[in-house]
Amino acid sequence: MAGSERTADPVPAHVAIIMDGNGRWAKKRHRPRLFGHKAGVDSVRAVVEAARESGVNHLTLYAFSTENWNRPGAEVKGLMALLKTYLQAELANMKKNNIRLGCFGQKERLPEDVRRVMDEVIGDTANCSGMRLNLALSYGSRTEIIGAVQEIAQKCASGQLDAESINDQVMSDHLYSAGQPDPDLMIRTGGEKRLSNFLLWQLSYAEIYFTETMWPDFRKEQFLEALYSFASRQRRYGRTGEQMTKAE
Ligand code: IPE
Ligand code: IPE
Ligand code: MG
Repeated sequence: MAGSERTADPVPAHVAIIMDGNGRWAKKRHRPRLFGHKAGVDSVRAVVEAARESGVNHLTLYAFSTENWNRPGAEVKGLMALLKTYLQAELANMKKNNIRLGCFGQKERLPEDVRRVMDEVIGDTANCSGMRLNLALSYGSRTEIIGAVQEIAQKCASGQLDAESINDQVMSDHLYSAGQPDPDLMIRTGGEKRLSNFLLWQLSYAEIYFTETMWPDFRKEQFLEALYSFASRQRRYGRTGEQMTKAE
């Protein structure tokens, strides 16, 4: 197989993905948008497996944004139904593969039945010590940051926290991603080159990988391609290339 000699080393500890392009993928096939979302669920399965097999410890998938609530009601309903069936169908598999599920976002805005299944899967996989799978659902980064700032401000007002001691760590500890490392690699499928309100704080030093591939066509092979790209990059964190090679 072409490229099989390439190595995906180092492997990113945390990969975040904006799964975009389901609607256009369906449109090209003269099918309804939901047909694209359904095919997208198969990509989710394939990518979760590929990430786990590759040794990725944290995978965050942007499944539904706060802005996506503005889509036509039927599409939102269809997406929620798909999410519920996905979670129900995957629970056994997650447990078997030691995957721990988490949710980034306004869980309280999800329909009651979806939230119930979600909580059940989160509870049932809480002791899994393998890969962390975070679903960003009704997620918006600005809302997340505002929530963190409000909590921190309340702690300051009540004397629990000293304003002077607020630093990167304190902010990170008040986000949905508390306790998890920042993403090393952010992938966006579907050709758009924007962040769409995704992990604005956490992505500050992430490597970014944009691909024209629509999400339903993004499977194991395409995921590995992104890992190869990541492995070939030099992360300099403001230093010079020479400083980095000396440090190795
Ligand atoms: C991503 O695909 C899935 C969600 C946002 C829920 P889109 O539905 O945005 O697909 P396009 O961008 O219209 O092709
Ligand atoms: C971003 O995709 C959100 C998800 C993938 C869930 P969108 O398709 O909603 O993004 P915009 O609106 O084109 O920026
Ligand atoms: Mg889109």
